[in-house]
Formats: sequence, structure tokens, C-alpha cells
Amino acid sequence: MSEKVIRELVRQNPGQATFEEYKLVYDVVVARAPCNLLVFGVGRDSALWLTANQDGRTVFLEDVAEWAGFARNEVPGIDVREVRYGTLRIFWHLLKYAPSTLMMNDLPDDVATAGWDVILVDAPRGTRWYRPGRMKSIYTASVLGRRAGADVLVHDCHRRVEREASDRFLGADRCVDHAGSMRHYALR
Ligand SMILES: C[S@@+](CC[C@H](N)C(=O)[O-])C[C@H]1O[C@@H](n2cnc3c(N)ncnc32)[C@H](O)[C@@H]1O
Repeated sequence: MSEKVIRELVRQNPGQATFEEYKLVYDVVVARAPCNLLVFGVGRDSALWLTANQDGRTVFLEDVAEWAGFARNEVPGIDVREVRYGTLRIFWHLLKYAPSTLMMNDLPDDVATAGWDVILVDAPRGTRWYRPGRMKSIYTASVLGRRAGADVLVHDCHRRVEREASDRFLGADRCVDHAGSMRHYALR
């Protein structure tokens, strides 16, 4: 059943994750569900994560107001919190020289203090030099994820910022699986 749903999502959502990438995330979430699931980024896949984490708690963080609105329209009752990143992808030097500036200190209290079991980092956008890139979301996932020993999944690790931030902050030795450019880190 899930395979059919994922194949249909890939068909309707070109240019995003592949079947194998979504399936990797889906299986990790289902294995821990019902759990606390934190997702950086909404899109046409948002309903899939709510289904995978049935009876659990799922919170989405989104920086683009139009996409937050899209998700609220498409998935009634979805819990989307709007956030700001304030970085550009070219600020890659922050990874090495100022990592503590990458913590998202203005998250809502209930997000900042929860124990997250699974964290999916699929935002913000990082395809162009003027996009935020994922240094902040990955750093923040590494801090929040250590609290409860989370499984952290990071998409688009073919890009330099995402790959280097993941290995540096989540730990290259904690990478336990991958599919395409989706990497799975286990912080346990
Ligand atoms: C890589 S996209 C997230 C894609 C989403 N996880 C999915 O698989 O459909 C990162 C950001 O781009 C925006 N976005 C979401 N879906 C998009 C789409 N289909 N095309 C372009 N941008 C999208 C949102 O602001 C999102 O936080």
C-alpha cells in the first residue's frame, strides 16, 4: 500500500525526492511510530509523513509563507510553524568557523524543548547561491536530535553545504544508510 502511495507522489511531484529516497524516510518513521517527528519543509509529501506517523506528533517548520499556506490548504489540521533562516548558501565558512551561530534560537518553546525521535531535513532551499541552504536546519537538527537519540534524515547531500554540514554536525560515523542523496544518521 505505502509503495503505491509513494509511487503516485513521485509521479505528481517531479523534481523532488525519488521513490527510493521517500521509501527510506517512510520506513524509518514507521519503525518508530507513533513518535515525535520534526520535518524541515512542507510540500506535496507532507501528508505522507502524517500517514507514516499515525497517532504520533508531527510538526513541520517552513520558511516560505506560500508553501506554509499550501500545506495548510492541502492537509487540514497540519501543524506548520513558520521560521526564518537568514543565511545564504554561500555562507559555507560558518560551518567551520562559527557553528554555534547556526542554532535556530527563535523556535517555538514546544519545538525547542521536545524530544524528537525522527527529524527529516528537506528545507530550506539550497539550489542557488542566494537560497538559505541547510546549514542552520542541519545544525539545529543535530542539537535537537541528540536529546532523544533521533534518527535524522537529510536530503540533497549531493550538495556541498548539506554534505559537509551533515558529516560535521551529525557525525560521518553516524551515517548508517543512504538512498540517492538522502542520508540517514542515527544519533544513538
Ligand atoms: C526540497 S523542497 C521540499 C520538498 C518536499 N519535501 C517534497 O518532497 O515535496 C524545500 C522547500 O521548497 C519549497 N517547496 C516545497 N515543495 C516544492 C516543490 N514541489 N517545488 C519547489 N519548491 C517546493 C518549500 O519552501 C520547501 O520548504
